[in-house]
Amino acid sequence: MRARGSPVQIVIVHVVDDGRDLLSRGVAETLLGARESWTRRMFEQGAALRRAGGGPVHDLSLGNPSLEPPARWTRALHDLLDDPTPGMHRYMTNAGYADVREFIAGREQVRFGLPITGPLVTMTVGAAGGLNVVLRAMMNPGDELLVPVPYFSEYEHYCTNVGAVLVPAPSTASFALDVDAIVSRIGERTRIVLLNSPNNPSGAVYVGENLDRLADALRRLERDRERPIFIIEDSPYRDLTHDGSPVASMMSRYDHTIHLTSHSKDLGLAGERIGYIVLSPRAAGHELLTRAFAFCNRVLGFVNAPALMQRALPRVLGQPDGRVDVEVYARRCRRMADGLIALGFDVLPPKAGFFLFPGLPAALRDEQGGDVVLTERLLAERTIVVPGTAFGVPGHLRLSMAADDAAIDGALAAFERACR
Ligand SMILES: Cc1ncc(COP(=O)(O)O)c(C=O)c1O
Repeated sequence: MRARGSPVQIVIVHVVDDGRDLLSRGVAETLLGARESWTRRMFEQGAALRRAGGGPVHDLSLGNPSLEPPARWTRALHDLLDDPTPGMHRYMTNAGYADVREFIAGREQVRFGLPITGPLVTMTVGAAGGLNVVLRAMMNPGDELLVPVPYFSEYEHYCTNVGAVLVPAPSTASFALDVDAIVSRIGERTRIVLLNSPNNPSGAVYVGENLDRLADALRRLERDRERPIFIIEDSPYRDLTHDGSPVASMMSRYDHTIHLTSHSKDLGLAGERIGYIVLSPRAAGHELLTRAFAFCNRVLGFVNAPALMQRALPRVLGQPDGRVDVEVYARRCRRMADGLIALGFDVLPPKAGFFLFPGLPAALRDEQGGDVVLTERLLAERTIVVPGTAFGVPGHLRLSMAADDAAIDGALAAFERACR
């Protein structure tokens, strides 16, 4: 019984069924709904199979580089750790060390033939950090980001972070840019066209001729708009072309271009989180934009790109052994492609990177959800792949060749059984 005059106790009972009310709407819809990343989901399935034991798992789900970083990078880190200079591990300006940005600018100047200076470079926490910085700096809720398919599925989540809307645009059958399709989808709310070349998952590299046509079309549209449409060029595989040829870029073709890259793949440093944004010196408002990028690096909580990784770059980039051996990835892609072609898959050999994006054999191609069906059959064979649905193009599978040779052998045998 409650004594007279004692305080009334109010007990609030939280109704938490699946925990949804603890989360923001965007995260709840993603994690608990149908939109959770297929790539992550498949990777988790692989991990669960491994934990359960029962033999090897052939995991081709994640683009986690299997080649170790160059020895030169390891030596550079040892030297940096032995360096007694005070302040090596402190905060710095949010855009990164001025001397490192100058160094990067010098290299990008040569690559793009533009007068790029240090202040136009923002060091970021990988390409993912850079993308989130740019979107936070430029997109309002409801603004549209136009992306040709297939696209890196994380883009959807980066859009959700800022309330932007991802609008997919079709590509040609060989995953080249379909410029007319892109232009026809540009509307009032389109702020940015995001190009990912070399492409994850298709391995396609967009050719200069199509980039020229897109640049012309954007210039024509600019005349009737209050502000220009920007291009983001997301290019973490640019130094992993299989034949060593350079990747065509919008930087030299269109003024309002923001180029993004990282060393997650070409130096095998995905866990170390180092990348950067390069803004064209011809872009509208470039001074204000670079300030905005530094600000967003700070307020998104990245603060700055990792200090040691920044300092290591000038000691590694451009050196003879300053990159992983891309031929290893190229060879694995060829081997897997040959095996899949023999099974009736439609394979466009990738021009760069370590992904294959084969079209399903005819019998499965016509089946609704055939990519998901085959993904599940392969899972039963202890082989982990990601269905094309995850990248906006059903009827395909994405296979990561950043896996060792044993996984590729095992996967090929599993494909044979699953397609039988
Ligand atoms: C197309 C694309 N963009 C961005 C990223 C993110 O790269 P980072 O690890 O440098 O953040 C990836 C990683 O797989 C990617 O494939």
